[in-house]
Amino acid sequence: MQDSVARPGLSTRHLLGIKYIQKEDIELIFKMASEFKEVINRPIKKVPSLRDVTIANIFFENSTRTRVSFELAEKRLSADIVNFSASSSSVTKGETLLDTVNNILAMKVDMVVMRHPAPGAHHFLANHIGANIINAGDGTHEHPTQALLDAYSMLEKVGTLQNKNIVIVGDVLHSRVALSNIFCLQKLGAHVKVCGPPTLIPKHIQSLGVEVEYDIAKALKWAHVANVLRIQSERQDIKYIPSAREYTQYFGINKELVEKVNKDIVIMHPGPINRGVEISSDLADSEYSIILDQVENGVAIRMAVLYLLASAK
Ligand code: CP
Repeated sequence: MQDSVARPGLSTRHLLGIKYIQKEDIELIFKMASEFKEVINRPIKKVPSLRDVTIANIFFENSTRTRVSFELAEKRLSADIVNFSASSSSVTKGETLLDTVNNILAMKVDMVVMRHPAPGAHHFLANHIGANIINAGDGTHEHPTQALLDAYSMLEKVGTLQNKNIVIVGDVLHSRVALSNIFCLQKLGAHVKVCGPPTLIPKHIQSLGVEVEYDIAKALKWAHVANVLRIQSERQDIKYIPSAREYTQYFGINKELVEKVNKDIVIMHPGPINRGVEISSDLADSEYSIILDQVENGVAIRMAVLYLLASAK
């Protein structure tokens, strides 16, 4: 990767959500991700592309995959990084989000990767500070890099997403992964259905051009790819389902069900998995599953996003 070559540009200097970017942006991110995937499979996995860039990873919510993946992507690009988690910070003493981030930026930080429980927190920051902002998940709203890595992983398996059938199964109501996936997949030409208990499907989801199917066997039969979500108990203030056992009985997927209805389907999950609830271990660990490919592709996708945004001033 030659830094002397002019970098192609995104239409935005922040990644706040998939809703706010163009199909061409997604395609450019995928092109760069393919180049970075080749880099991270070399014996020396590092390039100097972001050598003079300082990035703050600010996580106000728990994370394993996204946090490690961003940190690894930043290190592979030779950026300087600082990690910040809300539980061990002055946020617990009553400091506002803007004050916290301004204090970090005063230390000459160029980019902010943030996860925050409040939908729209990233828009607020983008309106108030000069750094590039990347949304690593905002409440139940969007998780754009997850959708990008999901779509990229689907493309590796099915070639094109134009006219492909994708079903998102589970707790769509509380899922930022679902909303970002819907925007991303539709921009790439796919047909999207959601499947889950009526209480966990947003009331007006059809207005996004998404169909609803309540029969899991029919949904799987229709789909080229199923992206399976966990029940987000931490976001549920009331009981949306009678029990995890009943959920598994009606909407849990396993290898036997898949082999009965659709042997060609690709099975995905953004993690963390609740094994034995939304997906059985025999399916999660089977040849149908590309769950670990998603994780691997996450690093290349995040390298591409960081690299492209760093040059979008
Ligand atoms: N998929 C995802 O966002 O996982 P984490 O919550 O572990 O980051």
